[in-house]
Amino acid sequence: MHPEIAAATRDPAVLSARSDAILAIRGLSVSYPVYGTEAVRAIRELDLSIARGEILGLVGESGSGKTTLARAIMGLLARPGRIDAGSVTFDGRDLRAMPEDALRAIRGKDIAMVIPNPRGELDPLVTVGRQIATVARAHLDIARDKSDELALEMLKAVQIPDPKRRFNAYPHELSGGMAQRVVMAMSLVCSPKFIISDDATSGLDVTVQAQILDLLRNLVRSHQTAMMFITRDIGITAHFCDRVAVIYAGEIVELAPTVRFFENPMHPYSVMLLAAFAHNPRLREKWHKPLASQIRAGTTGCPYAPRCVHVEDQCRGTRPALLELEPGHFVRCLVPVVRPT
Ligand SMILES: Nc1ncnc2c1ncn2[C@@H]1O[C@H](COP(=O)(O)OP(=O)(O)OP(=O)(O)O)[C@@H](O)[C@H]1O
Ligand SMILES: [Mg+2]
Repeated sequence: MHPEIAAATRDPAVLSARSDAILAIRGLSVSYPVYGTEAVRAIRELDLSIARGEILGLVGESGSGKTTLARAIMGLLARPGRIDAGSVTFDGRDLRAMPEDALRAIRGKDIAMVIPNPRGELDPLVTVGRQIATVARAHLDIARDKSDELALEMLKAVQIPDPKRRFNAYPHELSGGMAQRVVMAMSLVCSPKFIISDDATSGLDVTVQAQILDLLRNLVRSHQTAMMFITRDIGITAHFCDRVAVIYAGEIVELAPTVRFFENPMHPYSVMLLAAFAHNPRLREKWHKPLASQIRAGTTGCPYAPRCVHVEDQCRGTRPALLELEPGHFVRCLVPVVRPT
């Protein structure tokens, strides 16, 4: 083992126990049992916490478990997914122990989700202003005129031009970027404490994407909302997130403050991702295809070993722990990339 790793002793769970955490995930494992074959382990003993007002970028290739993690937090796993172990604590409350109706009250109000394909989210038969107002009324104890006022305010906040007129527009009358703004307005109308954005801007063209991300960041910052920002585009996280977590085969393999992550990436996978994004559009393309090798229940050793250019014999037999190699910078690797200082 590398001496710097041996020297690192702090348990990443320490981070989960931070008193300013709005969300703390401990030892979370999620699998999809598939009939006639071994279950796919989509999330493996994952520890992660997000502080109040923090934007955490969760980056990983297709099939790495990002959506599974988001849905496990929300208590909305797609079939046949199930949580095998672990806890999810939100604002001091254990979400897994909560009855469904209490969870439903939290979803949409305290925790909101922004996902791609905004048109699929919107009811084609109801005007967008009314849809935002309905979400507000469902969760906040307010009269109809108040909720209409709030909806209009939200349309202004997400910078929809001519918001009064757009209040009465139907979803099909809006462009893709505009529809995404409306979905954002719906997510934000109850001033949630925590937002999960799952690949929300991926279908939009680059300019619109940049505008929407800026807007989202400003709104989140001004409300002190925490956010988990899920993306396959590591480049976006540089300007957008306070910390970056890289997920590979259901495990966090690197977690660091954004500046440190980009200055000093230590996991060979992160280094590969950064190189691929900086220089090679073909590698970028490849990264968007689902992981070919899924992690089955019995896997030992480092899941990244078969693809790793730094691989050593020990990597195939030992599953590395997530260790803090510099303050706040966690890496799950037996042979991390260490640069001369
Ligand atoms: N409903 C399901 N049934 C069976 N397996 C599933 C299901 N949903 C996801 N999986 C498996 O779980 C793993 C993680 O998938 P997940 O959708 O969470 O990845 P992702 O990181 O969100 O990928 P993408 O970037 O493509 O959205 C994959 O191996 C996937 O095949
Ligand atoms: Mg996904």
